[in-house]
Amino acid sequence: MKTKLWIVDKDVDNLDSYPQIIEAASILRENETVAFPTETVYGLGANATSDEAVEKIYQAKGRPGDNPLIVHIADYSQLDELVEEIPDTAEKLINAFWPGPLTIILKVKKGVLSQRVTAGLNTVGIRMPDHPIAFELIKHAKLPIAAPSANSSGKPSPTTAQHVLEDLNGKIAGIVDGGETGVGVESTVIDCTLKQPVILRPGGITKEQLEEVIGQVVVDPGLTNPKDTRPKAPGMKYTHYAPNAPVYLVEGNSDFMQEKINEKRREGLKVGAILTEESARAIDADVVAVCGTSRHLETTAHALYDALRSFNQSDVDIIFSEVFPLKGIGLAIMNRLEKAAGHRYIIDEHAEK
Ligand code: TXA
Ligand code: MG
Repeated sequence: MKTKLWIVDKDVDNLDSYPQIIEAASILRENETVAFPTETVYGLGANATSDEAVEKIYQAKGRPGDNPLIVHIADYSQLDELVEEIPDTAEKLINAFWPGPLTIILKVKKGVLSQRVTAGLNTVGIRMPDHPIAFELIKHAKLPIAAPSANSSGKPSPTTAQHVLEDLNGKIAGIVDGGETGVGVESTVIDCTLKQPVILRPGGITKEQLEEVIGQVVVDPGLTNPKDTRPKAPGMKYTHYAPNAPVYLVEGNSDFMQEKINEKRREGLKVGAILTEESARAIDADVVAVCGTSRHLETTAHALYDALRSFNQSDVDIIFSEVFPLKGIGLAIMNRLEKAAGHRYIIDEHAEK
């Protein structure tokens, strides 16, 4: 299949009548797959009410069939058509964070969405993305749009159209190229079907932000201790975000990291490092992916997936990453890095805690 590429400037005034958007929307209505930018990462969209269309997402990504998809909507009336009820907590979160990087799990209405979207669960994850292209595309398609991240299953999520092409060229009908995405990590997934809402995946909206609106929020214990409980978001149990070379998380100061890098170099290995600007000034490796500044971890989130992908172009043998504090957006960054690293840590046992 030839993958069409539509280049769209997200900041133009007449986006609502842009021929490229209208063409892409009509292709979605024909039950084909179209990748598009959101404020988090690129999504691979398809008609969420059609088995045929949704099946194409799983095929293109090589995604396991038991991993449900998020449904994207552009206006609030679509929500009522898709879910049984909107509990109080969900209502508050919607008012505070939509459109935005928050996916809310609710009880699904039977018979509206393809069963392939929910992977047989009685719940569905819904979000309203905060991106003008995503908004216009969904509005013109006049459909709820199922859209996982537009990467091959297991790879880092795409933050540019180029990343999407690397993984899915020839496998999908088209890509709307609207430039780099903003947040850089995916939406936060929160389950609001329970009395006590639970974060199933940390992401663009932080735990602290959620708690300001609805009080205490629990993080699924399966996320922080993968051996302990099975994570409740089916997708979180799969290996993810991994470059070809093994990744290790290094907990210690710059000297410790440098020592570890040098050890591997002495063994003849080519060493990559994921570092903030500040650490990159202090640490030397064969290939350094600079990932934002430690003063604003939002910049690290924004750069993270491009950094992880970049190592596949530079044939490094091993990758060391610094670690980040588990608060604010740091929770999402560490969740993705831990998955990329398969939870492998190298810890400086002599360091003061
Ligand atoms: O930012 C995002 O959320 C991006 C953009 C494209 O919107 N989408 C995205 O989708 O990250 P995906 O499919 O890569 O991740 C969806 C996650 C998976 O971990 C999945 O298991 C979980 O949400 N999920 C979806 N529906 C669920 C449900 N009903 N119950 C529990 N977890 C669910
Ligand atoms: Mg994904």
